[in-house]
Amino acid sequence: MRTRRPYSLPWSQVTPEKTYLSRRRLLAAAGAMLGGGLLPGLGVASSRFAGAPASRFSTDEPLTPLKHVTSYNNFYEFGTGKDDPARNAHTLKTTPWAVEIGGEVTRPATVGLEELIQPAHLEERIYRLRCVEGWSMVIPWVGFPLADLLKRFQPTSRANYVAFETLYDPEQMPGQKRPVLDWPYREGLRLDEAMHPLTLLTVGLYGNELPNQNGAPLRLVVPWKYGFKSIKSIVRIRLTEQRPTTSWEMANAREYGFYSNVNPEVDHPRWSQARERRLGEESLFQKKRPTLMFNGYGEQVAHLYQGMDLRKYY
Ligand code: MTE
Repeated sequence: MRTRRPYSLPWSQVTPEKTYLSRRRLLAAAGAMLGGGLLPGLGVASSRFAGAPASRFSTDEPLTPLKHVTSYNNFYEFGTGKDDPARNAHTLKTTPWAVEIGGEVTRPATVGLEELIQPAHLEERIYRLRCVEGWSMVIPWVGFPLADLLKRFQPTSRANYVAFETLYDPEQMPGQKRPVLDWPYREGLRLDEAMHPLTLLTVGLYGNELPNQNGAPLRLVVPWKYGFKSIKSIVRIRLTEQRPTTSWEMANAREYGFYSNVNPEVDHPRWSQARERRLGEESLFQKKRPTLMFNGYGEQVAHLYQGMDLRKYY
């Protein structure tokens, strides 16, 4: 396992979104001229993942400014306030990092992060993220399909679900000293959801590594589900025959179901899910926007739930 990240930059040096966008356009234009790839000679690929190709799955909606993406977070391992993770997550040590892949796979293994990331598979995907609390963002993630990873470890015929766990280390994650959730943070997907091409394992955003508060060094992103399904700082992935339980289900099964698909027609027991506030856009006159079924990804994913009562399987 390698312990050094050859291209990493301190987060403080990361490009703000305007420079990032013009740099991307420059890269895209230069890439088109040169047939793609990184352009070290031009000095435009200074962020670690700036050369990751854009994806056809991206939305063209305006990006949420980086400062909102990195300062308004949910990461209860570092406190329950929205600004706690940005303040506290520096205690998380993300190198070296290993991920255990096991359960119903033919080739179980514990693999160092650098070995898990196949640079050729990295893409930039601009996705909407809709939190169950009623806010949303548009984020340029850098990642690779979870399906690519799962195929490498060869799920057996008994694998029906995928269970994920965050690191458990109360010294690095002081929020775990309090019983706010049943630690470690746990999430799960049905195998077909996990294998869907939209389901991403992310290692970066805005062209650089994930900031700790956003789930460094490895975080799941499932764009048609509420944000809490996108588990951060993953150390364990297990394929299972039985449906795994998730931290939010354990905390309150009436409010948070296993599926948690974005659904404007099924209210959270304490508030409506019909509308959302786009972070960075708020002003006195800004109207909340309507929330879309499956967060707008229905064309790609609705078939996964055909025939299911989405009020029962929320
Ligand atoms: N993962 C872990 N390990 N711990 C958490 O508290 N919060 C979830 C999810 N992943 C959480 C987590 C919730 S509630 C949301 S809305 C998103 O992360 C927030 O992601 P963001 O802070 O990058 O916007």
